[in-house]
Amino acid sequence: MTGVNDIRSTFLDYFSKNSHEVVESGPLVPRNDPTLMFANAGMNQFKNVFTGLEKRDYSRATTAQKVVRAGGKHNDLDNVGYTARHHTFFEMLGNFSFGDYFKDRAIELAWNLITKEYGLNKDRLLVTVFSEDQEAFDLWKKIAGLPESKIIKIPTSDNFWSMGDTGPCGPCSEIFYDHGDHIWGGPPGSPEEDGDRFVEIWNLVFMQYEQTGEGRIDLPRPSIDTGMGIERIAAVLQGVHDNYDIDLFRALISASEQATGVEAEGAAKNSHRVIADHLRSTSFLIADGVLPSNEGRGYVLRRIMRRGMRHAHLLGARDPLMYKLVPSLIREMGRSYPELGRAEALITETLKLEETRFRKTLERGLGLLDTATADLTEGGQLDGETAFKLYDTYGFPLDLTQDALRARNISVDTAGFNTAMERQKAEARAAWSGSGEAATETVWFALKEKAGATDFLGYETEIAEGIVTGLVADGAEVDKLTAGQDGVIILNQTPFYGESGGQVGDAGTMTADGIRIEVKDVQKKADGLFIHLVTIVEGAVALNQPLELKVDHARRSAIRSNHSATHLVHEALREVLGTHVAQKGSMVSPERLRFDFSHPKPLSDDELAVVEKYANEIVLQNAPVDTRLMAVDDAIEAGAMALFGEKYGDEVRVVSMGTALHGSKAGKPYSLELCGGTHVKRTGDIGLVTVVSEGAVAAGVRRVEALTGAEARAYLDGQDKRMKELASILKTGMADVPARVAQLVEDRRRLEKELADAKKKLAMGGGAGGDAASTVKTIGEYKLLGRVVEGINAKDLKGMADEAKTQLGSGVVVLISTDDAGKASIVTAVTKDLTEKVSAVDLVRIGSEALGGRGGGGRPDMAQAGGPDGSKADDAIKAIEAHLGA
Ligand code: SER
Repeated sequence: MTGVNDIRSTFLDYFSKNSHEVVESGPLVPRNDPTLMFANAGMNQFKNVFTGLEKRDYSRATTAQKVVRAGGKHNDLDNVGYTARHHTFFEMLGNFSFGDYFKDRAIELAWNLITKEYGLNKDRLLVTVFSEDQEAFDLWKKIAGLPESKIIKIPTSDNFWSMGDTGPCGPCSEIFYDHGDHIWGGPPGSPEEDGDRFVEIWNLVFMQYEQTGEGRIDLPRPSIDTGMGIERIAAVLQGVHDNYDIDLFRALISASEQATGVEAEGAAKNSHRVIADHLRSTSFLIADGVLPSNEGRGYVLRRIMRRGMRHAHLLGARDPLMYKLVPSLIREMGRSYPELGRAEALITETLKLEETRFRKTLERGLGLLDTATADLTEGGQLDGETAFKLYDTYGFPLDLTQDALRARNISVDTAGFNTAMERQKAEARAAWSGSGEAATETVWFALKEKAGATDFLGYETEIAEGIVTGLVADGAEVDKLTAGQDGVIILNQTPFYGESGGQVGDAGTMTADGIRIEVKDVQKKADGLFIHLVTIVEGAVALNQPLELKVDHARRSAIRSNHSATHLVHEALREVLGTHVAQKGSMVSPERLRFDFSHPKPLSDDELAVVEKYANEIVLQNAPVDTRLMAVDDAIEAGAMALFGEKYGDEVRVVSMGTALHGSKAGKPYSLELCGGTHVKRTGDIGLVTVVSEGAVAAGVRRVEALTGAEARAYLDGQDKRMKELASILKTGMADVPARVAQLVEDRRRLEKELADAKKKLAMGGGAGGDAASTVKTIGEYKLLGRVVEGINAKDLKGMADEAKTQLGSGVVVLISTDDAGKASIVTAVTKDLTEKVSAVDLVRIGSEALGGRGGGGRPDMAQAGGPDGSKADDAIKAIEAHLGA
């Protein structure tokens, strides 16, 4: 039997031998295409190569590409787990020609691979071609020697492949495998084609066109894109008919059988399959930087996770299950996809946390669902309101609700669900548009239409001239701003940086003859409009006024240092903690920098020290900071770190700095990031990086804060000064301070204990004073030990009372301690033999009243109270004596 790992390497080796470059899978979150939610085909990473926008130094490539099809075009989520061949995640093997070979060679290469390398029986194979593609028909006949009956012409879009609404596309030809007549189904194009007998194993796309917003245009040169789902070919080669029976899935399913103790049979079989499939997509998505959230990619991930988690619950798993299966997945796939191993901790923590959270509402949601559908029979429909409530209140994604009702053949009123969702959104919008802020927002769009986007000059210069194109005061456009007024100025161009990418906006001045304006902040609005928040200090400014614009240089310099240092800290964190560290947010101000990143646990002091050390090593290199504009794909290919989910234009700024000193990157550029911010010229300009704090922001996300340059020095100066003060107080050298302080703490602890012991001894020893109240007296039938002491706490007082009782054998003890503030604590105790006659609780009440207090409490043998007036301690004892004697 040939395992999935062998099938993959056979494929890549074969194409490598045939002069194809073996290229790594692109990430699941495509970097070069904002139109795609997830990578949905092997050709995604080559999109711009097909269209001629981008050149590579090879014209043939082969890949095993990670693919997620859930959400967007090619959405397979509903069926996953219930059919033999649906997956949310799968691997697509492919070979690509970029204007190199075309149909004939593609067919020949494919045919040889499957019949010779994979050794499939020719008689089991048949193919489809697009009905207008006679050329492909003839080639299959000639090259493969297939009879015409096995070359089926298909006139539908099934044989015309496109990536999405736009992008490269073309007619395609699919290779089918006949599993044999013991399985129901007919060949493609026949009425029984939906049966499982004939299975598509490979799709050869003859890329000829590019679909643009306006229409279809020819690609510069005809190209080839093929895609073979590894799970399907593995099923064929392993002689099974169901993808979930291949070695890889068997291993995952057996892990989930073991973890749940439930065999994969009957309905449980579907659940195990759902879990195995969803484990793959969620783990790979997390490894590629997606975290569960309530929108976009993160929500698709959450939907998949929760669907899997409901099935874990169905299998009776009491505790979170999915995270326990991660090691099995890494065992099966980690060698080909090392990113899984690198992100293991992040994947595990994320799965565990999500499942723990979801379990809190899952039971109640399912209860509500049961009640709401109790009266429904097969073919019935759950109302949209309930489905929405499950979504909104219980965190049930719609498809989870649908999935839960599937076995009972009950559907969901999705139109009703959408109506409920819309209503909620409309309510939110109404609340929003009623606010003053919304009115201001519309102003920006109007201004942007009139004035156009602002040209930003601030990378090259901090001083420039600009013409006023718009003025806003109190949220409305105005013609003029006058002295004393606060408002917004918009210019045709500006050197002022508008807050973005975590970097705060610039401040500075705008001047002209008789005009002085203070710029306090700059923001970006309406996609490219820089709005300067200003105070007019002198004169008046009107539209079309030319102004001299000057950024506050010192402030901007500090910002530059902090921004460049952020990149160094980012890279140092990856070096120390691993490449799963992905930026989750940052804030760069003149005072400090803040960097949020994915990492499952706190950093140790040692780790932080190494991060700081590595960052400062690059500072000391005093390396030039290189900023280039690059095509997005070139930048990513050069290894630049991009922010997941961020939209980049065709050209991006790439900032690189330093030379790596450690590990496999040694000798290569240290930090390489896509970044629109402003940076220092050389790393030495940063001066110094000091990490000042580390903490948690959200589950799986940590935050470090650091200072640079003058702020860092001031901070360390302060530390140093305090240290010197300490050394001087302790009269020791600075190096000895920690040992001295430790010694002092230890001494103090010992002395405190000794003091407490001494006080007790002194108090009970009776030596001092000898006043009337401190001797043992006999009052009526009772022996009474009454004593006033100083500075003993209530707890010790009780201990002393216990000891005194033992000494007396039979009798009553009254102990009163006064403190520095003149207040008193009183403890009364009565030996067991006397508690029937006299209660410590009554006695303490009498004593406490004499001390100006009230109440107190305890048991008949021991009670305690306080009183504000310690000077009445003797009176208190006398009062108790009087009571006992009465
Ligand atoms: N792009 C085609 C597919 O996904 C062939 O790789 O099927």
